[in-house]
Amino acid sequence: MSEDLKGKGALVTGASRGIGKAVAAELLSRGANVLISARKPEPLEEAAAELRGLGHPGKVVALAGNSGDAESRAEQVRTVVAEFGSLDILINNTGINPVYGSLMEADLNAVRKIFDVNVVAALGYVQEAYKAWMQANGGAVVNVASVAGIRSSGLIAAYGASKAALIRLTEELAWQLGPAIRVNAVAPAVVKTKFADALYSAGEDAAAAPYPLKRLGNPEDVAALIGFLVSDQASWITGEVVRVDGGLLATGGI
Ligand SMILES: NC(=O)c1ccc[n+]([C@@H]2O[C@H](COP(=O)([O-])OP(=O)(O)OC[C@H]3O[C@@H](n4cnc5c(N)ncnc54)[C@H](OP(=O)(O)O)[C@@H]3O)[C@@H](O)[C@H]2O)c1
Repeated sequence: MSEDLKGKGALVTGASRGIGKAVAAELLSRGANVLISARKPEPLEEAAAELRGLGHPGKVVALAGNSGDAESRAEQVRTVVAEFGSLDILINNTGINPVYGSLMEADLNAVRKIFDVNVVAALGYVQEAYKAWMQANGGAVVNVASVAGIRSSGLIAAYGASKAALIRLTEELAWQLGPAIRVNAVAPAVVKTKFADALYSAGEDAAAAPYPLKRLGNPEDVAALIGFLVSDQASWITGEVVRVDGGLLATGGI
């Protein structure tokens, strides 16, 4: 497995912290060159410095930009191809969740924004990557969905609906882009990041109690799965959504 992604060009969105940063580290450890993006330039540069400090041979490039902005997506894709000579791996990791609770009281502009960043932007990145590299050369895409896209949660309903759409988008893209481009999704349960801290800040043990594996996820749990999905070891897997949830959905709950 060591260096099995040697020389490949990768784009990981939303990667200044959390799952995206762990995915960047995983791809680097397997030999890839990685461009990380996120909105705020300073934490992004700090993340890039941290990733370079891991000492892997691949290059790390940081480019600030909003995943919801079409020109920024195009610039990120262009930069990957210019810097690394290819864009073989695209990880659509950016996701937002500004709406909680009752759908009847949900601000529709906020809901629209969730779908724009979590679903439309993911398709936008794939379109750019297709034009710039993957149509002619193939590639692998992973969309970071959620268990909330598979089973209703009540609390994060609008977000869950957007992740369900991302899962279906993954299937449609796998169908349309095969055989040269594989498109898969991962569906994590609660992973210990800033994004989810409200879900476990009252007590990690209590939050983990319903999980058969009795712990919450670490970003590295998701990154290891994504590393596998973009590698040749997964060369007969496309259109799949893989749960990485400590067994939570196996219990019937969320
Ligand atoms: N953590 C969980 O429990 C969990 C569970 C299931 C699924 N997920 C999914 O996993 C993905 C990553 O979440 P995470 O937990 O790692 O979150 P996180 O630690 O909060 O990191 C989010 C990253 O995305 C960036 N970002 C946010 N909005 C952005 C935008 N509009 N454009 C560009 N970058 C943006 C953030 O940087 P800036 O703020 O500087 O932009 C940051 O780098 C998301 O798609 C989320 O839905 C997470």
